[in-house]
Amino acid sequence: MSHLHIVILAAGKGTRMKSTLPKVLHQVAGVPMIERVLASAARLEPQSTTLVVGHQAENVRTALSRHAGLTFVVQEPQLGTAHALLTTESVLASKRGLVVLLSGDVPLLTTNTLENLVQTHRQAGAAATVVTAVVEDPHGYGRIVRDGERIAQIVEEKDATPAERQIREINSGIYAFELDGLFDAVRSIASENAQREYYLPDLVSIYRRRGLGVETVGVEDAREILGINSRVELAAVSTIVRQTKNSELMAAGVTIEDPATTYVDADAQIGADTILHPCVFIERGTVIGAGCEIHSGARIVASRLGDRVTVLNHTIITDSRLEDGVSAGPFAHIRNDTVVAPGAKIGNFVELKKTALGRGSKSMHLAYLGDAVIGERVNIGAGTITCNYDGTRKQTTTIEDGAFIGSDTQLIAPVTVGANAYVGTGTTVRENVPGGALAVSAGKQRNIDGWVERKRTKKN
Ligand code: UD1
Ligand code: CA
Repeated sequence: MSHLHIVILAAGKGTRMKSTLPKVLHQVAGVPMIERVLASAARLEPQSTTLVVGHQAENVRTALSRHAGLTFVVQEPQLGTAHALLTTESVLASKRGLVVLLSGDVPLLTTNTLENLVQTHRQAGAAATVVTAVVEDPHGYGRIVRDGERIAQIVEEKDATPAERQIREINSGIYAFELDGLFDAVRSIASENAQREYYLPDLVSIYRRRGLGVETVGVEDAREILGINSRVELAAVSTIVRQTKNSELMAAGVTIEDPATTYVDADAQIGADTILHPCVFIERGTVIGAGCEIHSGARIVASRLGDRVTVLNHTIITDSRLEDGVSAGPFAHIRNDTVVAPGAKIGNFVELKKTALGRGSKSMHLAYLGDAVIGERVNIGAGTITCNYDGTRKQTTTIEDGAFIGSDTQLIAPVTVGANAYVGTGTTVRENVPGGALAVSAGKQRNIDGWVERKRTKKN
């Protein structure tokens, strides 16, 4: 939007978080809260975005380094929200238009509300516009004191009279200000209040006394403007984000047995008729097809699942792909670009790392398959291990179509087992096995008759 500038306040210590991590880097449903604020701000297409940092400024800056075009200003010491805005004067003094001021700790604010804010502000020709909400429990927030219809002032909880504390309309901490005259007005804010801080909301009464227009805009859903000051609030806001996602998924045809214990990141996608049992975690852009069933305790991160995939209990899948009709788990671990072809089956205590498992192949029990290329219809016996690491390098094991790997086999990579070959139980495969061959490495079995009886008599 033309002549629109964003300022985000994020210098505060976040004392009530009791954390060494800066408050705005704490995650709301898997995403740092400041990233959520930046995302809704960016949709306004501002001419500039300035972040006021202070407490642990360097850590915040580093965490946000991938965002090009952010201007950081450091507020040191942190003397309040009005003082924080004043530190942006060097960046904004030469600019025209309006500034939309956001709080780094109010992460659920929608673009819709921000657009309403800008529209109301411009249409009314106001000097300042405040986003407000009527809430059940206004505790801790600044209260909107009205004089008739119009906003007269904002009173902080700690400075409010008992009567003012009854007011349920609160200040969201989100505002639009005309840049013209803004910094001079902010400079006139005093710190005669309970917290000895320079309060930005005091600008409302200052403007009103000067006869300047101050407007308010309400939010549809009061939850949008929840601020995070403590871990309890962090959890509450995360729950809202997750519930919203779960509701969207259910509306689109996904069965979620227990939404309260189902954690699906906002950027994940799940197809219709997929069933999520209680306590599952679907994270970081995972895409799941239709008709799948994900059992309790599963965690699926940055992965793609086709249709009709079954993930049994306590299976962990990261950065991998499971195609149509695959079944995995319970207790399987699938990671690092593993690709499991349609209809393949992975059983309990099987780990796959950077492995391709071909169509219809099976590894049902206790195996480690790392850096392996496994063809179609291969059967991997219990206890099979690809010895893929020689202490310096990772090497590839290739198992061609139709091969049968007997239980307790070690495959010392690099090595290839040819098509339809048969590896006997307990074999240590050090050399390639030709297609159709049988490989055995154990010596001939010896039975020593009467050994147990002799050992016993010796002891006595
Ligand atoms: C503030 C508002 C209150 C409003 C509430 C909404 C003031 C005085 N009060 O209260 O009316 O209802 O937000 O959530 O503004 N910050 C700085 N520098 C500072 C102080 C704060 O950058 O010197 C930043 C914080 O990091 C935070 C934001 O400003 O992101 C708000 O500060 P905070 O201390 O959380 O204010 P509240 O007490 O929540
Ligand atoms: Ca706050």
